[in-house]
Amino acid sequence: MGIDRPGKFDFIALKGDPIQASNFYGQDILSVSQFTRESLAYIFSVAEEMREMVQGMGATDLLTGYVLACLFYEPSTRTSSSFIAAMERLGGGVIPITQGVQYSSVSKGESLPDTIRTLEQYADAIVLRHPQVGAAKVAADYAHVPIINAGDGTGEHPTQALLDLFTIREELGKIDGLRVAMVGDLKYGRTVHSLTRLLSMYDVEIFLVSPEILRLPLDQANDLRDKGIRVRETYHVADVISTVDVLYVTRVQKERFADLSQYEEVRDFYEITPDLMKQAKERMIIMHPLPRVGEIHYAVDDDPRAAYFRQMRNGMYIRMALLAEVLGKARQ
Ligand code: NCD
Repeated sequence: MGIDRPGKFDFIALKGDPIQASNFYGQDILSVSQFTRESLAYIFSVAEEMREMVQGMGATDLLTGYVLACLFYEPSTRTSSSFIAAMERLGGGVIPITQGVQYSSVSKGESLPDTIRTLEQYADAIVLRHPQVGAAKVAADYAHVPIINAGDGTGEHPTQALLDLFTIREELGKIDGLRVAMVGDLKYGRTVHSLTRLLSMYDVEIFLVSPEILRLPLDQANDLRDKGIRVRETYHVADVISTVDVLYVTRVQKERFADLSQYEEVRDFYEITPDLMKQAKERMIIMHPLPRVGEIHYAVDDDPRAAYFRQMRNGMYIRMALLAEVLGKARQ
């Protein structure tokens, strides 16, 4: 959706070789399918500049005068805080409806379209997390400001996938040629759905590691294969641990189970321990979108290969880059 605001500040001058800039000014960010390898490289280069800026100055006035609404119908710690921190470090303001929509007019029965049409009166962009697949698209159909999907049920979580891919590139220096294992709840995990789609734009090998009832939906696994990705499925981390470059571990998504006895059956299926890590390559990383509920032992945290805290910090830089981009300030 288009927004038309005059530019106020000049900021980012891309360094090095010019990269084909993406054009997300005024656009919604609903799915990873909107991205190309070129636009990803561009967003990553802006995120790197954001990191340099934060490390050097802490904050800037790039988005002074802009307001971001954060509307979360589901719990969040990292996604909501990093969007808020991103906006504030860029000098902008935030309407935070992140502590429970029960305190907003949603509890009076207001519909999603009406809540969106309300917030766009005050904000220049809206970040939305919602339990229903496709909710962000519905919001975007009504909104005149960019909608950023911060998770739509079991559907997608595109900004998480961007920060995940950025982390892989930062940590291992490349994406092509890697072997990536997705571990845990591949059925309901939206971070898995978005990241596997994004990875399929690269020359990677993907291992799907899950209990039978939490396998990646067949259409998604087939999409990967159709794109020429080598996909292998197994139940056991032990089968893949010694060969992978990235071990992407996820939580079993309790809130998505209709039958909680099924959840009980698989909740403790995976435990990454220091002992297991002895079999992993010296140069590899363990990732997790977090929160974790037992899948990775705390004793693993001191392992230099444990990248999950660095990963979450990268989330702020990526979200700064995206906000600057959709509000038309990343490139002048
Ligand atoms: C994830 C989510 O909400 O999908 N969390 C996050 O955004 N970092 C993963 C999860 O909740 O398990």
